[in-house]
Amino acid sequence: MEIKITRTTTPKAKPAKGQALGFGKIFTDHMFMMNYTEGKGWHDARVEPFHNIELSPACVVFHYGQEMFEGLKAYRGVDGKVRLFRPEMNARRTNASNKRLCIPELPEEMFVEAVRAVVDVDADWIPTDDGTSLYIRPFIIGTDEFLGVAPSKTYLFCIILSPSGAYYADGLKPVGIWIEDDYVRAVRGGMGFAKTGGNYACSLAAQVKAHDDGYSQVLWLDGVERKYIEEVGAMNIFFKIGGKVVTPMLNGSILPGITRDSVLTLCRAWGLEVEERKISVDELIEAQKNGTLEEVFGTGTAAVISPVGKLRYVDEVMTIGDGSIGPLSQKLYDTVTGIQWGKVEDNMGWTQTV
Ligand code: PLP
Ligand code: COI
Repeated sequence: MEIKITRTTTPKAKPAKGQALGFGKIFTDHMFMMNYTEGKGWHDARVEPFHNIELSPACVVFHYGQEMFEGLKAYRGVDGKVRLFRPEMNARRTNASNKRLCIPELPEEMFVEAVRAVVDVDADWIPTDDGTSLYIRPFIIGTDEFLGVAPSKTYLFCIILSPSGAYYADGLKPVGIWIEDDYVRAVRGGMGFAKTGGNYACSLAAQVKAHDDGYSQVLWLDGVERKYIEEVGAMNIFFKIGGKVVTPMLNGSILPGITRDSVLTLCRAWGLEVEERKISVDELIEAQKNGTLEEVFGTGTAAVISPVGKLRYVDEVMTIGDGSIGPLSQKLYDTVTGIQWGKVEDNMGWTQTV
């Protein structure tokens, strides 16, 4: 793919070393853009100075939400090299989302090439403080100027970059999670497995409720029986129960997380017993009461491995562990981030350098 590169003539000041970055608040000097037109395919791949996008107010994306997004990171290793973590998995998931949303396929190698190109141009923006990275946000929007409900015939694929720190303000400190008993996120046959704005828009009301009560995020239950654990707002969820690592199976209504897949692979390689299955909220309450609920943690690109210290469900508040990160969560965090920052040998072939 030919990518036209136009560099900014007015570069912005980069965050200073030691500056608190937060998550997704600062944007780099450049962005990737590419258009799709029916009959012509994807065209005009380019890296341009970061800028606002001008669109018709009648665009499909504004009214019917035909869009998808991805999330991955670039890491500046301890050896100075820039690494991406399993970007081909994001490329594959892009097309799973696209298929569900009637967005045309984006060849996987085009996705990875586009990510590499824009990261390369803004490589100096990758922060180097402990725990920081360059968050990469690819997204596709339907751009037809038309108010009828139909798949767009034109699209825009963009990638923006944000030097970021920990997703949760408290870093590795265990977070409190609210198990939502009223609203639901997705049902089988819906679009829960796709990474699309609608899934996040519908999560906001519960998230506001959880925040008001002092919890960081929402843990969703299945949309039919409201009984089985699904996933958290921005991460998949794992439990260590009686020595076994247990996580909800992929059922079409949860996001197939790339960190989830990596954690399952590592746990299996370490000889741990792993189960992907249905987990009811009653089972969790029972395990917490009988002392077999050893650890709870979330997994995600932004969240990495996030220990959960407290789970709330209606009138039950389950406290997990002693308020510090559990040994398995810590080992997974050290291994995953170690591979990402080039501190631990990548036996799995998960990283590629830019
Ligand atoms: N589940 C949801 C709803 C998410 O938004 C995310 C974040 O991307 C995840 C799970 C974790 O997925 P991944 O590990 O691929 O980042
Ligand atoms: C990610 O982890 O990449 C995500 O997309 C989470 C996001 C919703 C903040």
